[in-house]
Amino acid sequence: MTEAVAFPQDRACPYHPPTAYEPLRAARPLTRVTFYDGRSVWAVTGHAAARQLLADQRLSSDRRNKSFPAPTERFAAIRDRGVALIGVDDPLHNVQRRKLIPSFAVKRINALRPRIQETVDRLLDAMEEQGSPAEVVSAFALPVPSMVICALLGVPYADHDYFEEQSRRLLRGPRAEDVERARGELEGYFHQLIERKWGDPGDGLLDDLIREHRATPAGDTADRDELVSLAVILLVAGHETTANMISLGTFTLLQHPEQLAQLRADETLMPAAVEELLRFLSIADGMLRVAKEDIEVAGRTIRAGDGVVFSTSLINRDADVYPESEELDWHRATRHHLAFGFGIHQCLGQNLARAELEIALRALFRRLPKLELAVPAQEIPFKPGDTIQGMLELPVTW
Ligand code: HEM
Repeated sequence: MTEAVAFPQDRACPYHPPTAYEPLRAARPLTRVTFYDGRSVWAVTGHAAARQLLADQRLSSDRRNKSFPAPTERFAAIRDRGVALIGVDDPLHNVQRRKLIPSFAVKRINALRPRIQETVDRLLDAMEEQGSPAEVVSAFALPVPSMVICALLGVPYADHDYFEEQSRRLLRGPRAEDVERARGELEGYFHQLIERKWGDPGDGLLDDLIREHRATPAGDTADRDELVSLAVILLVAGHETTANMISLGTFTLLQHPEQLAQLRADETLMPAAVEELLRFLSIADGMLRVAKEDIEVAGRTIRAGDGVVFSTSLINRDADVYPESEELDWHRATRHHLAFGFGIHQCLGQNLARAELEIALRALFRRLPKLELAVPAQEIPFKPGDTIQGMLELPVTW
């Protein structure tokens, strides 16, 4: 047993799981870890067990369940207030998700590709105009997904400084009260935006949802709260995650010159490379659930009320599924990685994220063939282990 291992912990290298998780890896597929408040929860680290459990509806995502685990004080501060989609179980989850699925289907996302390409090209033009050196997070990695999700949702990009800052606070605090305040700010922002759009919706996803809500006879206050909650999650999930993948993906490629050379020599490898980077980096490391009933898995019993955390970084390096799992290899069978989760909550925006990553990374390395880190890798700050993983800054030259 590994009761003493604390979760989450910081990575020692931004693209490898924390070295402190070694005992968890050894105890695959399932063991115990301790959260900040001293609570012991199950940590799932094996690929097969993770897929089995994430498909099991006896595990709940309902954060208002009194036993729902909190890996940080920040998370505990907003847990009880619940959240649409990602924090609800079926059947309500299915009702909420069904409305959104068409907007994120492969066909709709493919239609967005020219617009994503245009956004990426414009940002790279600006970077080149400004000249070397540059800071990739602020100049490229964050604005790409931020502009794209604004266009998709119908949110004015002019407000980006405000909502990027609130999203940052929501995910990283640092204090619990910052998180609460950030959430209130974002909800207030969307209440106002929806109010402005209500009488005359435009052509974004939010506008489509408003039209649909307007057509239902139900009192619209409750409806609007749900709409606001959906808008917050789509906006935050839609830019923070992909921004981290672009910054950490760029850093990782610059640290793996051989793999980068392969990619430059054959750009058709890009979709496979994006998939492998998603597996390798596992930036959302710690999906949470609570058991509603006893569940038998891998010879153990998860009891009703037990908390469960899925360590994606370890699951995606399960050597039974990914031989030489520590290597970055564009030619491996990467499918079925769990970087986007699995089961009913599997990432709604995954097709969008893939398109953005392919377009952004291809263009960045094509346009700047001499791209390199501006300072030694060890000096570049990256995010702590208790949030989505990524680079805090990425200074480069070319
Ligand atoms: C590389 C970037 C991304 C990563 C690694 C990622 C990862 C994830 C993961 C692991 C989950 C499952 C959480 C759980 O089961 O508890 C999830 C859910 C979700 N993601 Fe993403 N995501 C990314 C990009 C996006 C984008 C661009 C959007 C666009 C809006 C998005 C929207 C969502 C939503 C709405 C959910 C909740 C789905 C549900 O509960 O049914 N994500 N994401």
